[in-house]
Amino acid sequence: MSGNFRDRDIISITDFSRAEILHLCEAGHRMAELEKSGRRNILRDALKHRTLSYMFYEPSTRTRTSFNTGMRELGGRYDGFSGTEGTSVMKNETVRDTVTMMCANHNDVLVMRHPLDGSLQWAADVANIPVINGGDGRNEHPTQALLDVLTIYSLREARLDGLRIGFGGDLSHGRTVRSLSLALSHFDDITIRWAAEDFLGMPPDLVELLADRGVKVVRDGSVRDVMRQVDFYYRTRPQLERMPGVKQRDIVSMMKQYRIDLSKIEGFDVRVLHPLPVNSEIAEIDYRVYFTPAQAFFSQAEYGIFLRKALLHEMLGHEGYRRYDGRLPQVLGTGNNRLPRQARGAARSGMFIDRIQDGTVIDHLQPGTLRAVSDALDLENRGYSCTTATIPEKPNPFIKTNLRDLPERDLKRIALLSPEPTIDSVKDGRIAEKFVYLLCANTNCITRTINEDVPPRFFRDGGAIRCRYCRRPYLVSHRKVTAVERKAYVDSLPAVIEPVGYPE
Ligand code: CP
Repeated sequence: MSGNFRDRDIISITDFSRAEILHLCEAGHRMAELEKSGRRNILRDALKHRTLSYMFYEPSTRTRTSFNTGMRELGGRYDGFSGTEGTSVMKNETVRDTVTMMCANHNDVLVMRHPLDGSLQWAADVANIPVINGGDGRNEHPTQALLDVLTIYSLREARLDGLRIGFGGDLSHGRTVRSLSLALSHFDDITIRWAAEDFLGMPPDLVELLADRGVKVVRDGSVRDVMRQVDFYYRTRPQLERMPGVKQRDIVSMMKQYRIDLSKIEGFDVRVLHPLPVNSEIAEIDYRVYFTPAQAFFSQAEYGIFLRKALLHEMLGHEGYRRYDGRLPQVLGTGNNRLPRQARGAARSGMFIDRIQDGTVIDHLQPGTLRAVSDALDLENRGYSCTTATIPEKPNPFIKTNLRDLPERDLKRIALLSPEPTIDSVKDGRIAEKFVYLLCANTNCITRTINEDVPPRFFRDGGAIRCRYCRRPYLVSHRKVTAVERKAYVDSLPAVIEPVGYPE
C-alpha cells in the first residue's frame, strides 16, 4: 500500500491512485476502531501545536465540523470563517489575498469551500501550506468521495471490487456524484445504475469518462428498478443554488416519483447513503426511511470524521512546519494561455486603416461584439486611441489602439465577450508578438472572474488541452489557427498539474 500524504494538497479525487484510496480506507477504518473500542485518546497529542484554518465561502455543517473534530481529537486547534459576513471578503478581498493571510497566521493546513470551480487549485497554488478541497463550485468534493468510499468499504468488509451502486436525486449539478463515481472507477467490476429526470441526470461527459475507465453505467426507468439491482443507493439533494431561475416548487414536482419512501425500499436489502443535508422542504428521503435498517447516512457522516481525522494525521503527523515569508511565487502572475501565431507579411504589420507604430490590433472579434468590447475596454476615457472597424470582405471586426501590452484584465474582458481574440502587439511599425488569447470556456471557472486575477493556465492531457483550475477540456476553435500552431502550443504545455514551487 502506498500513501505519502505528507503536506500534500487534496484537490481532486482523480489525483488519487487505487492504492492511495485503499490506504486511506485502512487508516480511516483504524480511526473508527479506536473510537468504537474506547481508545480515542491514544492519539490525543498527535497534532499538538498544529492549527487548521477553515475558509468556508459557502454553508457547511458536516465538512467543516468533521475537520474540526478530527483536529481536536488529535490535539490540534482550528480557526477560520464560516460565511463571508464579518470578513474582508465583504470589502472585495480576493481569494489570493485571503488565503495568503491564513498562511501568514501560521496555520499548518487550510480547508476551503468556495462557489467557483477551480478555486481550490488556485488556493493551493497561492498557499505555502497544504490545502484541502472542501468543495469547489460544481466541480469536486474529494474528501466526501473518500468518506463515501470508506463507508462502503467498512459496511462491505473491505471489499470495493464488484460493487453495484444506485444513484438518484440531482446527479447533474452536484459535485459528490462526480467525485464518488470517479473514485469508484479505480476498482474492478463496478456497476452504477441510476434513475432521474433528464434535467437532473448523469452528465454525458461523466458517463463517457466512466465508460473509458471500465465502469458500467446503466439508466433504469424507476427507483425500484434501481433498488432491485444494487447493494447501496446513493441519494443527493437538488442543488438549487446551482440552478439559477429554477424554483423549488418546480423541482418538488419534478422529483416526486423519485423520492425515497418506504414503498421504494420495501423488499430490498439495500443501504441508503446520502452526503447530507436532506432538503426538508423537498424531503428527497421520507423521514420514515430514517428508522429502517436501510438508513446508513448517519453512519456515513461519522465515517467523515474518521476519514478526515486519518487524512489530517497522515498529512501533518510530522515535526516540520512551513515558515511564512510574505512572498508569492512569480508564476502566479502569469498564465500560459497565449497561443502564438505566425505573423505573416511583416510589411502589413501596421495593418488596415491608418498604420500604427506602437500599439495593439485586437483582431478576429466575433461578429456583433465590436461595440461591447470597445465599451468594456473604454480606451478613450483611459487616454488611448480606439479605432473600431469592420471590413466588408472580413467577417470579423477589429480594434486598433495605441495601448501596447494590454493588461491581463483587458485581455480577459475581451475574451469574455468575444472568445479567442487575436492580439497583435505592434512595436516600431512591426508585429512584435501575435497570439490568440485562450480563456477557459467553463462559465463558473475562477479564471473568468476578472477581479480574482487568476492567470489562465492549461495543461495537456494526451492531445487534449485542459484548464489547470477547473480541469475542463478546452477546444481551440479559432478558424485561423493552423494545425501546426495548435500542436506547437499543446506541446509547450505541461503534461501534469505541477505544484507551484515556493522558495524554501
Ligand atoms: N456533505 C457535505 O458536504 O455536507 P456539508 O455541506 O454540511 O458540509
